[in-house]
Amino acid sequence: MSVTVRVPAKVNVQLAVGAARPDGFHDLANVFLAVGLHDEVTATPAPSLRLTCAGPDADQVPLDGTNLAARAALALAERYGVEPAVHLHIAKDIPVAGGMAGGSADAAGALVACDALWGTRAPQEELLALCAELGSDVPFSLVGGAALGTGRGEKLRPLEVGGTFHWVFAVADGGLSTPAVYREFDRLTEGTDVPEPAASEALLSALAKGDATALAATLTNDLQPAALSLRPSLADTLRTGRAAGALAALVSGSGPTTAFLAPDPDTATTVAHALTASGTCRTARTTTAPAPGATVLS
Ligand code: C5P
Repeated sequence: MSVTVRVPAKVNVQLAVGAARPDGFHDLANVFLAVGLHDEVTATPAPSLRLTCAGPDADQVPLDGTNLAARAALALAERYGVEPAVHLHIAKDIPVAGGMAGGSADAAGALVACDALWGTRAPQEELLALCAELGSDVPFSLVGGAALGTGRGEKLRPLEVGGTFHWVFAVADGGLSTPAVYREFDRLTEGTDVPEPAASEALLSALAKGDATALAATLTNDLQPAALSLRPSLADTLRTGRAAGALAALVSGSGPTTAFLAPDPDTATTVAHALTASGTCRTARTTTAPAPGATVLS
């Protein structure tokens, strides 16, 4: 018997970042949107905890105890006094270290898969609490859809989305370290007055209406200057997508994946072709949002 769980990637349509807190984290107003790129996590009984991964970037995924999926299985096992005797297999399609919460998705997927396999039947609040301990983006990977994350991003308020949005994601060569991008944010904002992060009412309204033009006008990512500073070539990718017809372009989370909002599916395809042909990214993917959170497939 095995359990397979499908988990979505995310893009931050608003990422407002406050000053560094005493614990090193940053308070956020983080508007998450789950998008239709997925990993699948399969949990199968095994003599002891084992992790495997397949997919184009599988060689970049750590298969030791640092992997968030392994840590999720261990956390659930410890919480319920169960042996973590499970083989977790990750079918990876979300870019690795790409700013799309792929590691967080695998953690949420592993948690839900092990919960079903072991029959622990953890209540949703318990799963969310375990997710929050694993990482700031993990609770959102569990719930999907759209949500406003405050605190370090783990306190979620679900948001209404009034339509389907068409996105293109340009996958870069190599990843960016999230802590390094936050450190660069601290360096770039040193000596300045960093405002308290607050959600944009115009952006929430655009999401609720399903209005792509209005959403495009309100997309912001405070980590973008830091990601561009560490990876200046991303500016060419952003320019290429805008020139090809995207309504707006921005760095996804801490990058280096870049995200392009398109007015319709045909324009999304045109933008993806232009990005691929330009050589300013490794590959470009089209998809839609919102996508559901962690879902048991079998
Ligand atoms: O929570 P998570 O483990 O995903 O965070 C990874 C890193 O990103 C943290 O160690 C921290 O450097 C940075 N971070 C932050 N403020 C947040 C979320 C993440 O500084 N709100």
